[in-house]
Amino acid sequence: MEFEQLVKDRRSIRGYKPDPVPRALIEEIIEIASGAPSSMNTQPWHFHVVTGEPLDLIRAGNTERMVAGAKPQREIPVEGNYDGVHRERQVEIAYDLFDAMGIRDDRERRRDWMMRGFRQFDAPVSIVVTYDRDLQLATVGHFDLGAVTYGLVLAAWDRGLGTVINGQGIMQSAVVREHANIPEDEVIMTCVAMGWPAEGFSANDIKASRVPVDQIATFVGFDD
Ligand SMILES: Cc1cc2nc3c(=O)[nH]c(=O)nc-3n(C[C@H](O)[C@H](O)[C@H](O)COP(=O)(O)O)c2cc1C
Repeated sequence: MEFEQLVKDRRSIRGYKPDPVPRALIEEIIEIASGAPSSMNTQPWHFHVVTGEPLDLIRAGNTERMVAGAKPQREIPVEGNYDGVHRERQVEIAYDLFDAMGIRDDRERRRDWMMRGFRQFDAPVSIVVTYDRDLQLATVGHFDLGAVTYGLVLAAWDRGLGTVINGQGIMQSAVVREHANIPEDEVIMTCVAMGWPAEGFSANDIKASRVPVDQIATFVGFDD
């Protein structure tokens, strides 16, 4: 697929077929993603690919703790809430998704949608992305993880696979750590739910808006 078309077509997928994804295909996708640049070529990333029973245990444990009212326990440093334009953009995509699913005014079904997020949208595969713990305070390492994860979701899309980077799935990171067997010297950054997109699942068609270039870029020293 042409790069520009790939970038423009890709969107987060939140409804999946239950069909398994071949391990060799996931290995290929990770290999392509690992072509991402990283600070001083440190390549601080690791991918823990989970499916089947361990993934079901992660979904169940994460959801149970969230439903029981446990405070989110993420391993990455997280502070504060989104305000201003960040909050507006967050609300816009949420309403777009609720409207697509016909659940904006249905409290119970909105709650169910949130639960689906904690269950990684019932995707057949979850890739837990981690970084080396000795870089915990080096934010440039977090930058590297973003780069490699974008490569991952694009490479997956190129092969017809859907993904959603899914912070909700690692809200209770201790559960993920236990069942995905994450080594102590790694920190869980996020997970990426992956699978074949379900047909007719309306939220899968939503294209999230983007702020236009003239609002995100300034140009200095140009003649035009
Ligand atoms: C770090 C990160 C965490 C995310 N966590 C979630 C999540 O928990 N639930 C969800 O539905 N989408 C999640 N997303 C997906 C974003 O909502 C999505 O990327 C954004 O709305 C833009 O839409 P697009 O990916 O379709 O272009 C996350 C994305 C990123 C980069």
